[in-house]
Amino acid sequence: MRILFFSCLFVLLYNTTFSQGTDASSKENQFISDLISKMTIEEKVGQMTQYTGFFDITGPAPISGDNRRKYDDIKNGRVGSMLNVKGADQVRAMQKLAVENSRLGIPMIFGYDVIHGYKTISPIPLAEAASWDLQAIQRSARVAATEATAAGLNWTFAPMVDISRDARWGRVMEGAGEDPYLGSRIAAARVQGFQGDDLSANYTLAACTKHFAAYGFVESGKDYNTADIGTSTLYNVVLPPFKATVDAGVMTFMNSFNELNGIPATADKFLQRNVLKGDWGFDGFVVSDWGSIDELVIHGYAQDEEHAAQYAANAGSDMDMESHAYKEYLVSLIEKGRVDISVVDEAASRILRVKYRLGLFDDPYRYCDETREREITMSKENKDAALDMARKSIVLLKNDKSFLPISKSGKKIAIIGHLADSESSPLGNWILAADDNSAVSLLEGISKYDGNEYSYTQGVRLYEGREKFIYELKINTEDRSGIEQAVKLAKESDIVIMNLGEHGFMSGEARSRATLSLPGLQQELLEAVYEANPNVVLVLQTGRPLTITWADDHVPAIINAWQLGTESGHAIAQVLFGDYNPSGKLPMTFPSSIGQVPIYYNHKNTGRPYNADLVFWSHYIDQTNAPLYPFGFGLSYTSFKYENLIVSSSQNTVEVSITVTNTGNYDGEEVVQIYIRDHHSSVVRPIKELKGFEKLAIKKGESKTVKFQLSEKELGFFNNQGKYIFEPGKFSIMVGPNSTDLMEQVIEL
Ligand code: NOJ
Repeated sequence: MRILFFSCLFVLLYNTTFSQGTDASSKENQFISDLISKMTIEEKVGQMTQYTGFFDITGPAPISGDNRRKYDDIKNGRVGSMLNVKGADQVRAMQKLAVENSRLGIPMIFGYDVIHGYKTISPIPLAEAASWDLQAIQRSARVAATEATAAGLNWTFAPMVDISRDARWGRVMEGAGEDPYLGSRIAAARVQGFQGDDLSANYTLAACTKHFAAYGFVESGKDYNTADIGTSTLYNVVLPPFKATVDAGVMTFMNSFNELNGIPATADKFLQRNVLKGDWGFDGFVVSDWGSIDELVIHGYAQDEEHAAQYAANAGSDMDMESHAYKEYLVSLIEKGRVDISVVDEAASRILRVKYRLGLFDDPYRYCDETREREITMSKENKDAALDMARKSIVLLKNDKSFLPISKSGKKIAIIGHLADSESSPLGNWILAADDNSAVSLLEGISKYDGNEYSYTQGVRLYEGREKFIYELKINTEDRSGIEQAVKLAKESDIVIMNLGEHGFMSGEARSRATLSLPGLQQELLEAVYEANPNVVLVLQTGRPLTITWADDHVPAIINAWQLGTESGHAIAQVLFGDYNPSGKLPMTFPSSIGQVPIYYNHKNTGRPYNADLVFWSHYIDQTNAPLYPFGFGLSYTSFKYENLIVSSSQNTVEVSITVTNTGNYDGEEVVQIYIRDHHSSVVRPIKELKGFEKLAIKKGESKTVKFQLSEKELGFFNNQGKYIFEPGKFSIMVGPNSTDLMEQVIEL
């Protein structure tokens, strides 16, 4: 009976909608307002409620407790969305509960953390950012979308676009690093990859820009901590990547756990209503972060959960992720006049709009396709894309006397390090749907190059405990028993490949660190092995910049291989043995020591920047100001020469050209970067700001000329009222291979 009712209503709504209006947006608006007019307040609040998955739906319905309540709520049209339900069959079953039992049969939207891949895992986002390859990044998001949608999902909680200058913060692995320009370009590419041109296609899903806002600025890099930043930083550094995703058509936003300048983001009207939905015209919806409405009380902002629901809804948080506060209090808050019905109407409409654009009213099961799920999940094509992305993400940090690449034959090679035989760690952190141990380990990758003789020993154990998202790894700081064996092996070998760094579960949410050195006993191991045989290549794997200063001072070659996902071992081996020439560039500064953090290239000049003889200048007495590796840095097996920087300007537009020649012995790729400095302005600007880049493939001996054009859009900035302005005057135009080694010309505009 209910099914029949739903079908009739659905046909009625569908027909009414599609026979009205002429253009797509008026049809959409009509459909939504028709539906809203039929909904009770409880049903509207239901749309604003999101539950996490709770039981195996293919089993019997829960009999009692919280699960039973959730089950009934779905059937009664009190739930608009679920997260953490995955698999075409599971999603289909849950969707059926809502569609076939609730009065209006409104489909749910299914969200999941598809952050760097679904089953085929791509490099962590920070690693992908190191590729500076927007097409590859877009493709990586598309692969993730293709796999996730086949598994029933239609909404990913990505991209994370939080700019961060603090490598202690574990979530830097999830973002694009420290720069708002690069971060904005990558954020838009990710949205395009997830959403494509047609959101209703069954292989695209809604993206979710997070975490709005300033989560990357949590004090002392400690996750969930307070953020306290000035207006200029908010407008010029934090907000631009968020805005870039709105311009790219992102359908949803997630707010953040932190408070910003005293207002928890979930209750921040200024951010959500004034900036996002007002100034930027965002027409999708905002979901809270997990439990962040409840946490308004814990922050010391709301008096109780009822007030929390009131503040969050009024501030523009449209959907409640797992606080259950809207479900509990919104209806009575409306009755009491503390929340206006228009707030709920607006929030529900925004949510329905996204469902409409996803095509869920057309076919609530459009994303559930068991056959497609079987066929495309971890397909060869997807793995090839992951391999391509992994290779592009690797950054060559040091290569003295062309130590790399390693010869493919005739060598005795020792491989040392706990990480080298891990098929789990290279997957990284956000791997909820990935199969356990589904990465190609470094050992496996190297074994393909069978012309050398290889021996492996662990050296020291790095970690113990369950390698899971919800458990904290225990780091070995005592057991040195493997060092002796490692030293012996190093002595007997021509070359030592040391695979050291962080396990994938040492960065990510709630994985902040107070030090940035090699964790555990790995530094001791490295020094002991180096003493036995200095022909060491360090293969660093990490989810964040590390202070590998000793290694940089000693070992001849270092590659940063982050956590590269499913194809990790293949990608690293291809770089080690020269089948792929690395071209990655750091999206985040590597500090020389922990004391320099936060450290970033686009800092201000200060009143005392000079290296003076006297003590009174901005510096440390026990440490250089210089980073270990600057933003934008990365080497190649070949070398590039920059020459003929030509800068001209007319009417506040600057034309720049530079010639880059491949002067080495390999074909290679180079990321040419352009920076500006606005010397004097009404709000002080940084000493350098990235404003463009071009990734070029240049054959050995070949030269290419790159041209850039900068207009007021690149040369201006946000003043402290949030207004974008351009002020003519003296500008430096700088071009080069990284943020330090730059050719410069000064111009007057
Ligand atoms: C909390 C995290 O902060 C957020 O990024 C994530 O999307 C949600 N949990 C859902 O898992």
